[in-house]
Amino acid sequence: MASFTNMGSARETSSFLESIFKHMTDAIIVIDKQGFVVGVNPAAETLIGWSAEELSGKVHVCAVCKGIATCSEEATCAECFREKLNVPSFEMRVITKSGHEFPAAASSARLPEESGADFVVILRDMSEQHRIERERFHRVMTNYVIQAQEEERKRVSRDLHDGVGQALYSIIVGMKVLDQLPMDEVMRHHLAELQQMTVRALEEVRSLAVDLRPSALDDLGLVPAIRSFIKRFEQTFGIESYLEVEGKQRRYSSAVETALYRICQEAMTNAAKYADTDQVFVRISDYNNRIEMKIEDHGCGFDTEQILIQGTGLGLYGMKERANLLGGDVKIHSTIGRGTTIHVVIPLDEEGAPLYVDPGTYCR
Ligand SMILES: Nc1ncnc2c1ncn2[C@@H]1O[C@H](COP(=O)(O)OP(=O)(O)OP(=O)(O)O)[C@@H](O)[C@H]1O
Ligand SMILES: [Mg+2]
Repeated sequence: MASFTNMGSARETSSFLESIFKHMTDAIIVIDKQGFVVGVNPAAETLIGWSAEELSGKVHVCAVCKGIATCSEEATCAECFREKLNVPSFEMRVITKSGHEFPAAASSARLPEESGADFVVILRDMSEQHRIERERFHRVMTNYVIQAQEEERKRVSRDLHDGVGQALYSIIVGMKVLDQLPMDEVMRHHLAELQQMTVRALEEVRSLAVDLRPSALDDLGLVPAIRSFIKRFEQTFGIESYLEVEGKQRRYSSAVETALYRICQEAMTNAAKYADTDQVFVRISDYNNRIEMKIEDHGCGFDTEQILIQGTGLGLYGMKERANLLGGDVKIHSTIGRGTTIHVVIPLDEEGAPLYVDPGTYCR
């Protein structure tokens, strides 16, 4: 095609420009000195819902514009791009003929006097980009919150174990020494009671520390941590629990191990709280670089759609968030009277780190 500069006649140039005007995917709006729209290309007709005839000299640009903002601040109508705003590009809140509002990236240029018009504005719908940005921001914030929570749990767990736990242990040792000394029967009885109470308190502190963040998760990995969780779960709730492990056995990135451990913990606790069952089954499999975990009970089940819409608790929502952050997914299957299965899948790379993650939102 001939280049713009060496085009022959004025007619050729004009039809070339008209073709660009027609075929541009960005919306072009031409405005006269009074601010009325005097020309639009087909993309603008589609974007704002007004036809060229409806607009032509009859609709003011303010009927299309709900406000503008530069990258640094909102601009008022008094600083309208036609009057004051001295930047070539800005964001416009566009309103369509049917009243739908959306953000658009805008650039404008003043036209020369002889053109008969005053301004040309080029608009591009940014709704999708804004939605993607919002989702990304949400992912980043969720990730920060989850990490901060895990760090805090780790710290409190360590403090409990090393601080209160050690102090209680020293008291128990001290009381054993006291027990060797001569004392009357009443005192010995009191001492025995105190010893029992202190041993129980130490057990509680240890179990609290493990519940907060089991050191086995960092030291030994996912499967041993889940195995010892299951043991404690059986003792606490009296529910028989079975763990089956298939495929590769390896360590995963800390984020993957933490997410799967927390999902398992939440799903089993839900089964104990709501399922009215005496058995829970956990299966972990690692084949073809994807780790899968299923937590299944044959209890009372629930209406998943209703519960997810009502959003009564954070547990099921949190499971999904954790898996999604790692490029994985959680499916919840439940049938009233037949039970519930929580099914998690996370695709992994060779090192056991998640395969599909946004590097900007992920921390190993
Ligand atoms: N295994 C299950 N069997 C029966 N009902 C379940 C089961 N798991 C979840 N539910 C139902 O789904 C609801 C939502 O569970 P979710 O874990 O999201 O919240 P929660 O346990 O109520 O509160 P949170 O987890 O925030 O402490 C529960 O209140 C319960 O009615
Ligand atoms: Mg729950």
